[in-house]
Amino acid sequence: MTQLTLALAKGRTAKDTLKVLKKANITFPDFHKESRKLVFYSEDHSIKMIYVKAVDVTTYVEQGAADIGIVGRDNILEANADIYELLDLKLGICRFVVASLKALSLVKGSSVKVAAKYTHVAKKHFEKKGIHAETIKLNGSVELAPIIDMADCILDIVETGSTIKENGLTIIDEVEPISTRLIANKASFATKTAAVQNFVEQIKDVLE
Ligand code: PRP
Repeated sequence: MTQLTLALAKGRTAKDTLKVLKKANITFPDFHKESRKLVFYSEDHSIKMIYVKAVDVTTYVEQGAADIGIVGRDNILEANADIYELLDLKLGICRFVVASLKALSLVKGSSVKVAAKYTHVAKKHFEKKGIHAETIKLNGSVELAPIIDMADCILDIVETGSTIKENGLTIIDEVEPISTRLIANKASFATKTAAVQNFVEQIKDVLE
């Protein structure tokens, strides 16, 4: 039996992801969310699961330390990693948007100061539109930046829309839809094809 190492993102979508895996009969008997353990094995040991920060999942997969990973498309886009995206688990559905306090004239050739957790995504988005973006990296509470006049706008995740609304911001541009994805290391996909495809099918079956 080929064992696959799966990097699973901690955080918001972990619980729902583990529910999907359970439906597909992939369970980790030792796992409980208070545990400080980082490595867990499925009952039949076909999956070795490493439980890591969402922002690091693409790194483990790109490096080949994990064959497959389950993580949000926000982290995949920001990492710009050389990996395969195999399946949309349709969990953690949200979107990247640009928001500001007031209307901005964002025309080709203009400049803008953008606060973001995802600065690579922000740079790329404005680059595509021919706008020069100066990005300010923040690790949270991004909505604060325009309020305190540190940036003209933000590029951030919107789920329910309440954070944007409660802080008086308006969405001025839709950027990209986000959801949880199954990704694979390119070499693992080539050398462990049957095991990876079997895993994909197992998950697909319970999503439908
Ligand atoms: C995320 C995101 C937004 C908020 C969007 O922040 O960066 O601020 O959630 O959700 P909503 O549309 O449902 O209001 P998070 O809660 O992760 O906290 P952070 O500000 O510390 O990053």
